[in-house]
Amino acid sequence: MPVVQPSPRRLRTVALIGIDGSGKTTQARLLAAELSRSGLPATYHQNAGGRRWFGRLAERFGRDDAQDLLGRRLMLLVESVLRWLAIARALLRRVRSGDVAVMDRYAACQYASLRARGRGRAGERLARVAYSVFPRPDVTFLLAVRPEVAWQRVETRGYDHEDLGDLRAADAAYRDLPEHAHVVVVDANGTLDEVAAAIRGHLAAYLPAAQPLPRQRPAVSGVLAAPALADYASAVTPLAQAAA
Ligand SMILES: Nc1ncnc2c1ncn2[C@@H]1O[C@H](COP(=O)(O)OP(=O)(O)OP(=O)(O)O)[C@@H](O)[C@H]1O
Ligand SMILES: [Mg+2]
Repeated sequence: MPVVQPSPRRLRTVALIGIDGSGKTTQARLLAAELSRSGLPATYHQNAGGRRWFGRLAERFGRDDAQDLLGRRLMLLVESVLRWLAIARALLRRVRSGDVAVMDRYAACQYASLRARGRGRAGERLARVAYSVFPRPDVTFLLAVRPEVAWQRVETRGYDHEDLGDLRAADAAYRDLPEHAHVVVVDANGTLDEVAAAIRGHLAAYLPAAQPLPRQRPAVSGVLAAPALADYASAVTPLAQAAA
């Protein structure tokens, strides 16, 4: 009797959320590339809130950062609006292209930002009304990383700075969100390959059986093997260019 393979579940949207420096952009780019290679065309979407762009503008005006330039409340408003527009555009593009949308940040990131930086919950309540038009992603990965590790990664990245206290507040905010009950928490303290493997493992049910995601190359003594490093380099090069 022929064995009937269960058809894979349909994957439309995957979101990666987590504090700054947790590795969202790195992993989202890798994931979009790997899904595409394995037969599920996927597109990376950076759902930025403009904080970095305004941060660069702030430097030109001799200010510390975006918040110092616009003020806390205005920056949170601008960030909420820009992120809403970015997510809306990404979802529209997904409908048009049919690709899996790999979201680098999603609505929960804005709720966490408002909790960590705001005073009171009025802003979050408003944001929740506005963002409620967006569907919950099929899978949301929370990249859970120790704030100290994230801080060090941001410093090593070299094009911006984070305050360790802010990272701790953001970490607490993510854990406290009601969305936390629906996310897949991934230990993001490990190597690039370890984090990527954990993410892939949770997506197995969505993949065509005949075309599993390419296996990650093993890390050699804690150092990435060369092909994985090449993947990593191709993932971060556009970032470095964007930051230039
Ligand atoms: N697992 C990892 N191990 C070591 N370094 C990593 C790992 N993941 C990412 N990095 C590096 O840490 C830095 C931060 O990663 P990345 O930019 O992907 O984080 P992010 O969550 O997108 O941050 P942000 O919220 O500020 O955009 C980058 O320089 C990246 O190369
Ligand atoms: Mg990023």
